[in-house]
Amino acid sequence: MASKKLLLLPGDGIGPEAMAEVEKLIAVMNADLGAGFETERGLVGGSAYDAHGQAISEADMAKALAADAVLFGAVGGPKWDPVPYEVRPEAGLLRLRKDLALFANLRPAICYPALAASSSLKPEVVEGLDILIVRELTGGVYFGEPKEIIDLGNGQKRGIDTQVYDTFEIERISGVAFELARTRKNHVTSMEKRNVMKSGVLWNEVVTQTHKAKYADVKLDHMLADAGGMQLVRWPKQFDVIVTDNLFGDMLSDVAAMLTGSLGMLPSASLGAPDAKTGSRKALYEPVHGSAPDIAGKGIANPIAMIASFAMCLRYSFGMVAEADRLETAISAVLDEGLRTRDILSEGKTEVGTTAIGDAVVERF
Ligand code: NAI
Ligand code: MG
Repeated sequence: MASKKLLLLPGDGIGPEAMAEVEKLIAVMNADLGAGFETERGLVGGSAYDAHGQAISEADMAKALAADAVLFGAVGGPKWDPVPYEVRPEAGLLRLRKDLALFANLRPAICYPALAASSSLKPEVVEGLDILIVRELTGGVYFGEPKEIIDLGNGQKRGIDTQVYDTFEIERISGVAFELARTRKNHVTSMEKRNVMKSGVLWNEVVTQTHKAKYADVKLDHMLADAGGMQLVRWPKQFDVIVTDNLFGDMLSDVAAMLTGSLGMLPSASLGAPDAKTGSRKALYEPVHGSAPDIAGKGIANPIAMIASFAMCLRYSFGMVAEADRLETAISAVLDEGLRTRDILSEGKTEVGTTAIGDAVVERF
């Protein structure tokens, strides 16, 4: 059996509470299915800073590089606000993304039937929604040079960020999108602003060429990113996979996420390039939410985002598609039964805590 080495980085705040529910699932999968997960633990964020003055230690970075997948909870909190910029909790996550070269960020927006009524959109607009945003994560305007504030000497300053994309970056992110589409509804929508941005013209060109060369069986549409934002809110079910750059992806994935309810429900995956020899990818799975210091330690955090991130891990790192499907079905069943943490509570439903949701998911898995 191929190795299944998992590094668990629970982090701060509600991170460890949510991770504990995933650990129950791992134990059950090992005991009942012989899944063969080997887990190691490490520190990240504020808890790592408290232990050794860094947001992640070199030893834990080495573990992350050796692991087949990293499960990440959340980092940060007011306790560490005074900490210097270079070692602040978020630096741990940024270091992991950089050293593991995680260029593809996958953000699903799934509307569980039981929660359709609590969306800010009409239930019929979101019911059954299942879209996947593939965001380029290591290039674009967040990293391009020059990136600076210059003093113009006349009482004015100039802030500069630069959007830069090279062919290979667009090829590899669109390749990820096309391949994922083949496992879904076989439809990719690429979003850029080719009408006003040179990088958008290149984006459009390279996606079109990549499609023609290797993925002509997938349906491809192009949409200007601002129009895409409108369409996401107007009729999101027209989409299957959306591929876009770092900045547009940041915004569009947050918009798409909110179509479906609470932060406590949203998983994500970040993938690296496949290894030339083994074909396996470095990968990190994490909930979209942060460490939620306002509710940490109270046992009321919603663990579903973390559990759904583990389902993505099963699907994308270990090819355990049937198990991933079963886990997602178990989450849906728990919601159908009316069990809710406080963040998704609505009238007539039963409020339960973090561990009760985790136990219920394990039971229905
Ligand atoms: P947050 O996501 O931690 O919380 C925002 C709101 O949503 C809070 O009211 C919180 O209670 C609620 N919430 C979040 N996750 C929940 C869950 N699973 N169940 C129930 N309610 C949930 O974002 P916020 O408050 O802006 O940031 C708090 C800390 O987390 C900061 O230090 C921030 O830097 C850090 N952060 C870390 C991230 C990461 O580790 N990837 C991402 C975002 C923020
Ligand atoms: Mg964002």
